[in-house]
Amino acid sequence: MKKLLSVLLASLMVISLVACAQQTAPATTEAAAESVETAVESEAPAGPRTVRVGVSIYTFDDAFMTLYRNELTRYFESKNNDQVTYEVTMQDGKNDQAEQTNQIDNFIAQGYDVLILNLVQSTSAATVMDKCAAAGIPVVFINREPSESDMQSHNTGDYAGKFTYVGADARQSGRFQGELIADLENKGDLNGDGKLQYVMIEGDPENVDAQYRTEFSISQYKEKTGNEVECLDDQVGNWQRAEGQRLAANALTQYGDQIEVIFCNNDDMAMGAKVAIEAAGRKINENIYLVGVDALAEAVEAVIAGEMTGTVLNDHNGQSHAAVDCAIAAANGEALELYNWVDYVKVTPENASQYK
Ligand code: BGC
Repeated sequence: MKKLLSVLLASLMVISLVACAQQTAPATTEAAAESVETAVESEAPAGPRTVRVGVSIYTFDDAFMTLYRNELTRYFESKNNDQVTYEVTMQDGKNDQAEQTNQIDNFIAQGYDVLILNLVQSTSAATVMDKCAAAGIPVVFINREPSESDMQSHNTGDYAGKFTYVGADARQSGRFQGELIADLENKGDLNGDGKLQYVMIEGDPENVDAQYRTEFSISQYKEKTGNEVECLDDQVGNWQRAEGQRLAANALTQYGDQIEVIFCNNDDMAMGAKVAIEAAGRKINENIYLVGVDALAEAVEAVIAGEMTGTVLNDHNGQSHAAVDCAIAAANGEALELYNWVDYVKVTPENASQYK
């Protein structure tokens, strides 16, 4: 009897699956399908399928990631239809890996269908992948790139194709920052000594974006101009505006007119640095230059107004859409590419109005 019941149940499931995949059943099978449907209805309620998506953002207190997560939510909503509802749970990692690990463990325990993770510490990626692989839950990493070796070492066996990194290659954003200065008529060399005296304000080193922008902005500047460089000050501002302002103010007090350029790893810190520069009585694009990354609305406005030398678009729309598309594909059982890259764009006074 038990066996008969399970055979019957299994065949009902097969028929109901086929009914999901095919919109119109051929006339001859309609009657059979109808009687089956009545039976199925009492087993499992009809209606759209719900895909549960767990998202954890390293901190809600980040200007760029706020734009990113809002667009992520909006784009998921646009994907809802009669067949599928995406139920998105968005958590604030509060810049605390222990807190975020708890959130991820809960998503796993509750059997979420797919996770989108902006890790507090990118080094936690390996443990996260081990847990998700054991539970068979796909993961889309965003914004903070796990190490290549962690990505490669997990891309085997059953978990291959079940996870991906969606992001932008921060080397490109660094190079663009270097070019924004190298392409100026005086190459940023205000005092004409053949050397660029600069200050670097770095983001949180937990994101390789900070390291790459710091390195590649300068190497590209040197390569394009042949000039030497002199780093007057290099400090970590953790992506935060208030830190950008404080560090720029300190550097301006200490090095004054010697500073020709302030490179900030992101726009939020650059907006802080801008306040400090103005408070020190300096005039951006006349006797000091300032560049950032992200193309936050305020930064784009500042570039247009000639109050910032340039920025680099970090395409939160493109990245969040790619992340959602990957999550949906993974929830549908499709295999993912290991990396999904989105390009940066250089933003200058000439093209800035396009990025408002
Ligand atoms: C952005 C920063 C942001 C950081 C967060 C970077 O790609 O440029 O603005 O604070 O990601 O991890």
